[in-house]
Amino acid sequence: MERLQKVLAHDGVASRRQSEKLIMSGRVRVNGTVVTELGTKVGVHDKIVVDGVPVTTEAPVYIMLYKPRRIISTANDEKGRKTVVDLVEGIPQRIYPVGRLDYDTAGLLLLTNDGELANRLTHPKYEVEKTYIAKVNGIPSNEAMKALRQGMTVDGETYAPAKGKIVSVDDKKKTAIVSLAIHEGKNHQVKKMLDAVGLPVEKLKREQYGFLTLKGLNAGESRHLKPEEVKELRRLTGLI
Ligand code: URA
Repeated sequence: MERLQKVLAHDGVASRRQSEKLIMSGRVRVNGTVVTELGTKVGVHDKIVVDGVPVTTEAPVYIMLYKPRRIISTANDEKGRKTVVDLVEGIPQRIYPVGRLDYDTAGLLLLTNDGELANRLTHPKYEVEKTYIAKVNGIPSNEAMKALRQGMTVDGETYAPAKGKIVSVDDKKKTAIVSLAIHEGKNHQVKKMLDAVGLPVEKLKREQYGFLTLKGLNAGESRHLKPEEVKELRRLTGLI
C-alpha cells in the first residue's frame, strides 16, 4: 500500500505537491468515494479517478536510448514522423522522453512511464549534470572557454556556468571538438551558449546523463536501466 499522493505523482498525474492539492480540493475518488485525507493508503486494486478520469497504474519502466540524429524527441508527432518512442520496441507501457534532444542532436535520452522521477529529473532543483560533445566551427579562445565557465545571458535567457573543455582542434579546417557539461535543460542551451562565444555548433551529441553513459549502445539502440541505476537516479532526485 502507498500513500495516495505518491501514487498520483508516480503515475504522472501531477507533482506530489500538486497531487496533495488535488486530493484536498476533493477532486480525487478512490473506489467511487471522494477522498480528501492526505494519509490515505491505496493498493494496486483500488480504482483511482481524478476529475472523472481513471488513473492507470502500470509497472514502471526505465529505458536508455541512444537517440540518432533526425528523430524527434516528443512522444507523438502531429506530422506522423517517427519519434524516439517508435525506436523502443516491445514495451507495452506508454513511455515518454525525459526532457528533449533537438531533432539534429544525437545521444543519451531516458524514456519512462514514471512521471514522478521524470518530473524531478527535469526540475531545476534536481537537474543532473548532462555532458555534451560538440563539433564547432572555429578555434575556441581562452576567453570563449572562460565565458562558458562563467555562465552568460543570451537574448534575455540566463545560463548557469558550464564545465567546458577543449577535446581537440583541427587547425586546417578551423574546427574543434568541445565538451560542455551543464545542469540546466533550457531550449537549445548548448548551441546557444557556444554560438554566443563565436563557436557555432555543427554537430551535437549528449554523451552522459549524470552517471549514465552510452557505453555498449549504437545509435538507435536502447536498453533497460539496471535496478541499481534506477535507484541511483531516485537517490539523486531525493526520492529515496
Ligand atoms: N542543447 C542543445 O542545444 N540541443 C540539445 O539537443 C540539447 C542541449
